Amino acid sequence: MFLKKKILVTCALPYSNGSIHLGHMLEHIQADIWVRYHRMCGNEIYFICADDAHGTPVMLKAKKLNITPEKMIKKVYFEHISDLRNFNISYDNYYTTHSNENFFFSKLIFNRLKKKKFIKKKIIKQLYDYIYNLFLPDRFIKGKCPNCYSINQYGDHCENCGITYGSIELIDPISILSHTTPILCNSEHYFFDLPQFYKFLKNWLNSGVLEEKIKNKMKEWFILGLKKWDITRDSPYFGFKIPNSINKYFYVWLDAPIGYISTFKNLCNHNKKLNFFEWWKKDSNTELYHFIGKDIIYFHSLFWPAILEGSNFRKPTKLFVHGHITLNGLKMSKSKGNFITAKKWLKFLDSDSLRYYYASKLSSNINDIDFNFYDFVYKINGDVVNKIVNLASRNAYFINNYFNNNLSKNIDISFYLKFVEKSKIIHEYFIKCKFSHAIKQIIILSDIANYYIDKYKPWLLIKNNLKKKEVQKICSMGINMFRIIMIYIKPIMPILSQKTELFLKKKLCIHNIKYPLINRKISKFKPLFTRININDLKKIIKE
Ligand code: MSP
Ligand code: ZN
Repeated sequence: MFLKKKILVTCALPYSNGSIHLGHMLEHIQADIWVRYHRMCGNEIYFICADDAHGTPVMLKAKKLNITPEKMIKKVYFEHISDLRNFNISYDNYYTTHSNENFFFSKLIFNRLKKKKFIKKKIIKQLYDYIYNLFLPDRFIKGKCPNCYSINQYGDHCENCGITYGSIELIDPISILSHTTPILCNSEHYFFDLPQFYKFLKNWLNSGVLEEKIKNKMKEWFILGLKKWDITRDSPYFGFKIPNSINKYFYVWLDAPIGYISTFKNLCNHNKKLNFFEWWKKDSNTELYHFIGKDIIYFHSLFWPAILEGSNFRKPTKLFVHGHITLNGLKMSKSKGNFITAKKWLKFLDSDSLRYYYASKLSSNINDIDFNFYDFVYKINGDVVNKIVNLASRNAYFINNYFNNNLSKNIDISFYLKFVEKSKIIHEYFIKCKFSHAIKQIIILSDIANYYIDKYKPWLLIKNNLKKKEVQKICSMGINMFRIIMIYIKPIMPILSQKTELFLKKKLCIHNIKYPLINRKISKFKPLFTRININDLKKIIKE
């Protein structure tokens, strides 16, 4: 019997100070494919995300725009929601960390940690910009990494070696705001006592929550030693005030992951069937998966599980970590002029094509993924149009025009079952997030299917009246092979799948894959997908 799983899935919360871009989309698409596959299998799955609304960059961006942070994050929120919806990212709830629920849980967790003596107070020295009159947030200081000495690193963590540190540890710090050397000033801060969780974290990390390669990287962090984590920021700051303190705020990275909890709580408020505690209590039997980029492993694999453990909540079941998107071999950046937002993409191209391309490149590792324009066109036109969609059109031509849209009464069932048989391995690939492997299998099946039609040549057989029945059978087989392929593609390309369902007059579902479509009508074939032109991609960059 099929045992229904209860699964909660999150993506990292995009910051409220910028647009959703192709880098973000990799993560949302990856998670959405995984979620849609599980949904199709019949699991009870909830998919949530939110805007990460706090922090100094948000505050300063609003200042620059001459509006309040509240107003800015609201505007950005609606833009984000619309971008994600336009890519068919099927969130059950997309919320914000600037919410009552998140303030409630941030306070609750802080108080629980404090009660259990996991929070320590300490007077620290902080870098202060006298020109701008503020304590400099990590992201506004640059200097040399104290670990690997690479230059131009931010004050929170090194993009080169991945280590996190306090901003005063940076060598030769410079304020990004005033380009002057900041001065050290005293301030009392709260610290989360991460070292107390050393043993817990070691055990947790050995419970299959991360791929081996990532785990090895983390061993370096354990060797370097875990450090207490500063969770306080001084005023001026945009965030939640720390209870019983003056002019102190929770650091954005404290309340951001708590956004996973509060967004789910908000979902429970709207869906009375959901029991919050069943999902977040310490010994919950439900599963929790976080999809994140490789730059935020530290936060999700050390601070976050330790905070959950210290405040009596459940821990994540697994972290799915992906690498970063580069564009034609270059890092995406506004200054390089190769920064593509989700919105800009949709001005020239469709969402399914990006979803397919990313799926064809994604596996369960953290290698960076290069988005190459020529490779993209080759894959979409070569795989999706020439191999998959063409399979439908070339067979529908005969079924529509010679057989009044009727599929034959029977087909070559043993050959059909060979296609069904692939669902086992493809299932494994989907579950393990190895989408590129799944697509390889799907393309092999499309090649076999097209070869099958080429071999029987219905366009010749149809000229012989005695062979007509045979043509119907061959082309019905062709349509059935197309259907199986489209069942596998469904989580990847929702728009193409919807059009296919109308064409086949049947919902695509893994549960009835064993039963072929026979002795029934299909619709008149309408083009399912349009060819991509390389110029459309070039236009995006030029715009
Ligand atoms: N706000 C934090 C996450 C808090 S989660 C509790 C953050 N935001 S972000 O907007 O910078 O990034 C959100 C996600 O997008 C991260 O997982 C990040 O790795 C991912 N990406 C951002 N740029 C990316 C690429 N160029 N390529 C792939 N993913 C990238 O971090
Ligand atoms: Zn470094």
